Amino acid sequence: MKLMIDDARIEKIKEIWEIYPVEGVTTNPTILAKSGRNPYEVLKEIRAFIGKETPLMAQAVSREAEGMAEEGRRMVKELGENTYVKIPAIPEGFRAMKLLAGEGIPFTATAIYTPMQAFLAGQCGASYAAPYLNRIDNMGYNGVQAAKDIHDIFRNNGMKTEVLVASFKNSHQLLEMCKYGVGAATVAPEVIEGLVKNQTILSAVDVFVQDFEGLAGTGRTMNDC
Ligand code: G3P
Repeated sequence: MKLMIDDARIEKIKEIWEIYPVEGVTTNPTILAKSGRNPYEVLKEIRAFIGKETPLMAQAVSREAEGMAEEGRRMVKELGENTYVKIPAIPEGFRAMKLLAGEGIPFTATAIYTPMQAFLAGQCGASYAAPYLNRIDNMGYNGVQAAKDIHDIFRNNGMKTEVLVASFKNSHQLLEMCKYGVGAATVAPEVIEGLVKNQTILSAVDVFVQDFEGLAGTGRTMNDC
């Protein structure tokens, strides 16, 4: 399962990138709006940092298919290869997906709340389909199960589309996706940091350091023995 960062704050992206094994950056219009800046300026900054080989995702916001496809062309032109255009899995979106597929522009189907949306997006040639796990939970359904079902639908129908699970609010939701081995998960920096933010773990490491210093002297390490 590839882990991606769901954010557009360049400093936060750099911080997470340095520590954790992440392999992509995703954004959505709400995330970009928080910057208050020109979206291309923000996305180009992210692209310059992550390099041209790494997946970068941004969403089209036109209401009609032609507009969505045109946004997709512009994004790829401005942001280069390995830019995935996020297209909502709604009727006009499916029409846009078919246009983009015909031009070989990679896209991610987004705003997925039901497995049938994902199936249709897969048939349209989506590289990824993004179910919103926590939002599905909030509707009273089971987001983890929906993501698993979508993964199975792709595999059982011989589709190449991968699940890119989005909208995580806690570590357990992500653990369930790791166990199932879905293609990718995109996660907010704060949730990534929360995966290992645990006083018990830190205390265990502190005890090892203290015991070693008891043996070799304060501040000493294996390099000093
Ligand atoms: O980009 C879609 C996904 O990240 C939405 O997450 O936290 O707004 O439910 P959230």
